[in-house]
Amino acid sequence: MADTGKTAKLEIEGETYDLPIFAPTAGPNVIDIRKLYSTAGVFTYDPGFTSTASCDSTITFIDGEKGELLHRGYPIDQLAEKSHFLEVCYLLLYGDLPSAAQLEDFEERVTKHTMLHEQMHFLFRGFRRDAHPMAIMVGVVGALSAFYHDSTDINDPWQREVASIRMIAKMPTIASMAYKYTIGQPFVYPRNDIDYASNFLRMCFAVPAEDYEVNPILSRAMDRIFTLHADHEQNASTSTVRLASSSGANPFACIAAGIACLWGPAHGGANQACLEMLQEIGTVDQIPEYIARAKDKNDPFRLMGFGHRVYKNFDPRAKVLKQSADEVLELLGIEDNPTLQVAKELEKQALADEYFVEKKLFPNVDFYSGIILEAMGFPTSMFTPIFAVSRTIGWISQWKEMIADPQLKIGRPRQLYLGETKRDYVDVENR
Ligand code: SDX
Repeated sequence: MADTGKTAKLEIEGETYDLPIFAPTAGPNVIDIRKLYSTAGVFTYDPGFTSTASCDSTITFIDGEKGELLHRGYPIDQLAEKSHFLEVCYLLLYGDLPSAAQLEDFEERVTKHTMLHEQMHFLFRGFRRDAHPMAIMVGVVGALSAFYHDSTDINDPWQREVASIRMIAKMPTIASMAYKYTIGQPFVYPRNDIDYASNFLRMCFAVPAEDYEVNPILSRAMDRIFTLHADHEQNASTSTVRLASSSGANPFACIAAGIACLWGPAHGGANQACLEMLQEIGTVDQIPEYIARAKDKNDPFRLMGFGHRVYKNFDPRAKVLKQSADEVLELLGIEDNPTLQVAKELEKQALADEYFVEKKLFPNVDFYSGIILEAMGFPTSMFTPIFAVSRTIGWISQWKEMIADPQLKIGRPRQLYLGETKRDYVDVENR
């Protein structure tokens, strides 16, 4: 980051403190408060980190006002249209688009790591068949460190590289196994002769009793969904991975922590919650009631798939997914899908409502993704696992960036304490 040479002046009880101002390559300037407590004896206060930069990064930039998302400088809509997921993985991981030879080598390395240690199959058997696939993924991904000890030393760049490739490669296998387990079907092994998205669809939907042909429309849509969910700056689950990694924990444990955080309905769990909301609304005539509930301060109901901490404009990913939903459903001959009709009318009515306009609440990445995934044959319980498969590259890229930072320190926030001041113990007979 560029030190502007300027400072922010903070005056506290007659003392003035000069805080350096750094300028990014894009986005707002930052005030360096690292020495604030040691020089002024005060903390800053920012629950939810609405005004806090937790790190510096070169991976993803979001302009919330413009509704712009860049991965290593490349706009997400261009990547969604012209690139494909494994190329975007390379871009996020290594910083630039690969040559044809680099891409071929990277895809080959990922392909050769898609299988899971056979002993791990027994781990799934410990879960109830009605377990949520996210519960299984948290457990199985965390257990990877028990099977892949040779890529857990985070101080060894080669082991970091191997762990990264293993995570990208095995996540679709683990997610599809979690799905198969919950529906009582046998696991389907990955194949090395089909692409990443097609492999995932085949591992989810193929059965030993018959051949399975991947529908190219669905594999293109699947690949695009993976691309659109790959990384998103310092969101809650990525921040979780960074904080867990700052203690030196192994990468598999840190990714498991990211999966756990992503599961929440305010974050990656919103795609499942959104589709369930659209299905509960059912018909367009019910929409006004739900919009009224979303605006009612006394009603905890929120429009799932709407609003965002950073975007105060349309989420660019939602735009691509809305277009993709139209294309996929038309190609599948279900363009009159009632859920899609409800989603479009809900978006139209909400964006015309003062409450949503004033609070700058727009559809986010989770608003249309579920409609496509449902049309592809996935149950709602698989929506967030699919988000986790995609976001693994974001978590891993951010993890690698942080671990390689020579200034790495363990993350340890402070607090505004409002509890009891010191007091003496009272024996039970005197209470
Ligand atoms: C993801 O961070 C990321 O980058 C995340 C993500 C990624 O790629 O990693 O983009 C993925 O998580 C997308 C968000 C998915 N979540 C949802 O769709 C759940 C519904 N949305 C919200 O719960 C909410 O909008 C958040 C959590 C997404 C953002 O919350 P903020 O930034 O903390 O905003 P807020 O809760 O303070 O809301 C501001 C105001 C509030 O009203 P007031 O208190 O100011 O009167 O807007 C209201 C909120 O009540 N509001 C909503 C609303 N979202 C915010 N009201 C109705 N419906 C909503 N969806």
